[in-house]
Order: sequence, then C-alpha cells, then structure tokens
Amino acid sequence: MFNKANISKFNNLDTPFYYYDMQVLHNTLSACRTASSKYGFHVHYAMKANFNPKVLDMIQSFGFGADCVSGNEVKAAIEHDFGKEKIVFAGVGKSDKEINFALDADIFCFNAESVQELEVINELAKAKNKIAKIAIRINPNVDAHTHHFITTGLDENKFGINTWQLPEIAETLRKCANLQFLGIHFHIGSQITDMEVYKNLCTRINEIQDWFEDKGFTVKILNAGGGLGIDYYNPEGNISDFESYFKVFKSFLNVKPGQEVHFELGRALVGQCASLISRVLYVKNGQKKNFLVLDAGMTELIRPMLYQAHHLIENISQEKTPDSIKYDVVGPICESTDCFQKDVSLPQSYRGDLIAVHSAGAYGEVMASGYNLRDRVGSIYSED
Ligand code: LLP
Repeated sequence: MFNKANISKFNNLDTPFYYYDMQVLHNTLSACRTASSKYGFHVHYAMKANFNPKVLDMIQSFGFGADCVSGNEVKAAIEHDFGKEKIVFAGVGKSDKEINFALDADIFCFNAESVQELEVINELAKAKNKIAKIAIRINPNVDAHTHHFITTGLDENKFGINTWQLPEIAETLRKCANLQFLGIHFHIGSQITDMEVYKNLCTRINEIQDWFEDKGFTVKILNAGGGLGIDYYNPEGNISDFESYFKVFKSFLNVKPGQEVHFELGRALVGQCASLISRVLYVKNGQKKNFLVLDAGMTELIRPMLYQAHHLIENISQEKTPDSIKYDVVGPICESTDCFQKDVSLPQSYRGDLIAVHSAGAYGEVMASGYNLRDRVGSIYSED
C-alpha cells in the first residue's frame, strides 16, 4: 500500500509516528459533502475522533461543523474557525467551567444528557443573562450491533435520557426560562456498518419527535449522531458508503417543513487517512510462537488492546511472499495486553523493518498516552 518513495522517506525518520495521507482525507471529506448536501443535511465533525491541527483545518475548509465533548474541544473548534453557529457540545459530564466557556462562546447548541444538567445549564445561563440552546440527547434503546464497548444507545448505557424520563424533561424545559429547546439528539454507537440499524433509529426518532410535538414543543433539529463504520480489513482506497448512509435517513426519517437534520460523524471521516508506522525492534522466534516486538504499542494505538479491534498490519519493508510466517505483533509496554494482533501472516521479518498499522486515523493519535513515560507519538503528512 505504500510506495517506494514513502518507504525510503520513512527509513530516514524516527519511529513510531502517524502518517497522514491528506489526499485520502480530502477524498473522504469530498464524498461525504457530496452525499450529505444532496439532501441538505448538516454534518458536524466529531472532533474526539482526531483533533490533529492539520486534520481539523482540512475538515473545517470543507464547511463541516464541529461536535465537541469537552470545553477544550469547543476551544479548539473556535481556534480552527469552525464558526460558533456550527458548534455543538455533547457529553454526559460537562463541568460548570466547560458550560460557562461554551455559553460565553455562544455556541449553536448543547446536547444535554440529564434533568440535572438542564437545571445547571439554565442556572449558569441565567447568571450570564443568556439563553442556552438545547437539544435533548435521548437514548432510543436501539441495538447498534457493534462491539459492546462502543455501544451507547441501550437502556443500560450511561449516555442520554431514557424515554420513560421524557415527561420530567418536558416539565423541566417548561420551567427553565433560560433554555431554548431546539430539538432531539441521538447517538447509538460507533463502527456501525449495518444500515438496518439506522433504519431502526429513524423509526424511533419519528416516534420521539411526535411525542415532543404532541406536548406542544417545536422540534427544529433532528440530530442522528454519528457511528458510520469503516472497513478495517480492506483499508486501501476504501471510503465509507456515505451515499447509502444518508439515503437511509432521507428515506425513513419523517422530516417536517422547517426542520434540519444533523449528523456527527467521526470515524468515517478520518479513519482511513492515517497509519501508525513503527519499526521492528526484535524478532523472537519461539517453539510455539514467533513475536515481532515493535517500537510502538498501546501507548501509540490502544484500540486493539482496549476493544480487541482489528487493524490491518503490513510489513512495508519486505515484498509479500507466498510462504509467510505467523507472528504475534506486540508492543514494548510492560503489559501482557500490549499486543496488536496474534498470528499475523507476514513475510519473514527482520530487526529494522517498517510495520504499518492501517486505518488508524480515528481514535488513534488522540488516544495516545504517556504510560511508561514514553515520548508522545509524532505525526507526518503526505504533503510535507
Ligand atoms: N456523537 C457522539 C455523541 C459520540 O459519542 C460519538 C462517538 C460520535 C458522535 C462519533 O462517532 P463515530 O462517527 O466516530 O462513530 N474510541 C472508540 C470509539 C468511541 C466513540 C465515542 N463516541 C473506538 O476507538 O472505537
């Protein structure tokens, strides 16, 4: 997947690092914009997936809004010119400091997740003599058919407001004079590839918006969240099917005159644009197992260790050979779970070979840590 020019450039660099293919990012953003604008849908980029400054700048240049989950993300969205009228702020635990920051910034909307949060936002807005715009994050109890660690829309998840609490929400909205109800928000999980799941979500959104309208509320915004998956097994040139995704909402969502439909995509926009590049430090040939010990581990990319997530692993220093060898590809961290994947078929590999871990653009660099007092992982870009 990498050409000779890339590889000889990488050979002269310190590893590990994230390699960003800005053309892939560009093509992905372009595909998403074309597919969403066909129906007038609004897309906010879920910044938590990757807040690398160059990535943010390119996403902003496509006109997407920003979906933030912390005060610092709101700050970064403003610094990267996303425009306050396109910033939404979600999260189950917004602190007073973060709420105050977002109120001062006059963001478009808070996605609120509990009765108590509504009361706190109301109080803080009142103290500033402001009106906070609110979408209610509702837990629709739709099964996302994805890994249980990244499912968010079931009754047992900590996120959102369960439907049996809606009467209390309606009452709270009525009595909070410094809140303006804009609409309803949903996010049922991540890495969802089954379009049937989104169809089910549409049905629930239709029912819930009717409930609000029956109670006398005007629902201006329908926010369906994010979650569209990517193909971790075939990363090359493989952009998520934005056409089919948006078409489901166009076909099954009951959009009324004057309503806006919003989305918060993260992974599908940035997942395929980066790979983690590392070097083989040691090859340990055993009786039962062969190990490739890399200079990158869970401190650089934690997804395989945290969610048993699959990422395609490639030895880019060696030609592919038919008689491959099985290796457990592991990192240097003092934890047994620090393993990218077991029994990976690779050509015979040597100390110094470059290993690419693909599809690492989403929840990769942003989830890096300094555990074991490691250096913070760097990044390089195709255009440099
Ligand atoms: N909106 C909300 C409210 C969210 O919580 C999330 C992701 C998104 C949008 C964007 O979802 P996406 O389009 O990226 O699926 N670290 C995990 C994924 C956690 C997702 C958290 N929420 C992973 O590496 O798989």
